[in-house]
Amino acid sequence: MFEPRIDPPPAEHWSTYVVDQAWDRFTLEDHAVWDVLFERQVELLGTRVVAQFLDGIDLLRLSHPGIPELGELNAILTPRTGWRTVAVPGLVPDPIFFDMLRERVFPVGNFIRRRAELDYLEAPDCFHDLFGHIPMLAHHEFAAMVEHVGRLGHAAIAAGEGERVARIYWHSVEFGLAKEGRELKILGAGLASSFGEAHFSLESEAVRRLPFAVERAVNTPYRHDAFQPLYLVSQSLDRTVADILGMTPEALLAIDRTRGSLP
Ligand SMILES: [Fe+2]
Repeated sequence: MFEPRIDPPPAEHWSTYVVDQAWDRFTLEDHAVWDVLFERQVELLGTRVVAQFLDGIDLLRLSHPGIPELGELNAILTPRTGWRTVAVPGLVPDPIFFDMLRERVFPVGNFIRRRAELDYLEAPDCFHDLFGHIPMLAHHEFAAMVEHVGRLGHAAIAAGEGERVARIYWHSVEFGLAKEGRELKILGAGLASSFGEAHFSLESEAVRRLPFAVERAVNTPYRHDAFQPLYLVSQSLDRTVADILGMTPEALLAIDRTRGSLP
């Protein structure tokens, strides 16, 4: 007997979230806010951030004054690692975000905070996205790792387990620390672009720091609304890249999540 196949509805494509950066719309004040943020953050970070981050700033010429125009940025970034930036009007939902990552597309807010709110962000703006994230995407290994996180995210969401990958992403790409030789450095974009939390993450005696492992990341919740009580520390950037790249969707879904939440 013939049975009609019922296909699931087509998944929404990430491109429906993309808008024009409309760079010409940014005012002189917007560009001045970028310059203040950029100079302040570079000075604050000094060498407290992994060397690849500082290299990435130079490679992509992000120190050029004013908010970067995404077309000009992509003209350097895309030939280098295949990544490109697109403008979005705000946070994109996780399934869309991970689908972007697996095609080496990074969403960048098409707005910047106001001078009166330099340290307060309701949603990631272009300073967080461009200054925090893009320098690391100029490096081949890290670029491959973030794409793989996108693949893992897509598979995990399909299995109803998207939080596993959200946590991996959070504890590495967003709020990870990393050892560089014997020194502790900032790795994650959320720290690299934060005035308050950058030093706090390295120096506070009130937080815990534990070695990064994929299994631990999957079992470690995080805070959206406050400084992290716990940071995971990549024992070396290379090792974390290899650990994440070595993770298959099957292995990820097999990680035991009954071993409690930290902390
Ligand atoms: Fe981010």
